[in-house]
Amino acid sequence: AVERTLSIIKPDATKRNLTGKINAKFEDAGLRIVAQKRIQLTMAQAGQFYIVHKDRPFYGELCEFMASKPVVVQVLEGEGAILKNREVMGATNPADAAPGTIRAEFAESVGENSVHGSDAPETAAEEIAYFFSGLELVG
Ligand code: CMP
Repeated sequence: AVERTLSIIKPDATKRNLTGKINAKFEDAGLRIVAQKRIQLTMAQAGQFYIVHKDRPFYGELCEFMASKPVVVQVLEGEGAILKNREVMGATNPADAAPGTIRAEFAESVGENSVHGSDAPETAAEEIAYFFSGLELVG
């Protein structure tokens, strides 16, 4: 089925001018960028976005990192987009990411790992609605 997923190009990647190279990986995999904006998150916005991780030891560090510099939030659309995006990103820890994946090529560490992608249909819907209104999604 055609799905939509929420993607974030993280501060470590926007800082190094990698937005275009990362977008090329998505587009080459058949994912269409149907919405995209560059924003700087506040700590409160990062904290709410990652609220499921609030009890993890890395939560504070994660929120500070995500609010430290601009991010690019985007909606990717395509056949099986949620899983396809996760394949293109590679494993969370770049040390475990398959060659050719975004994290293998660009990520600096498990925390500064260049991209975020929704992990399931329910979270994709929630995460898209967190950043975009229906009017901003242009298939
Ligand atoms: P993401 O897919 O954005 O979802 C949660 C994020 O937490 C994850 O990517 C990592 O960047 C981050 N994360 C996971 N494990 C650790 C860790 N051990 N230390 C710091 N950050 C982590």
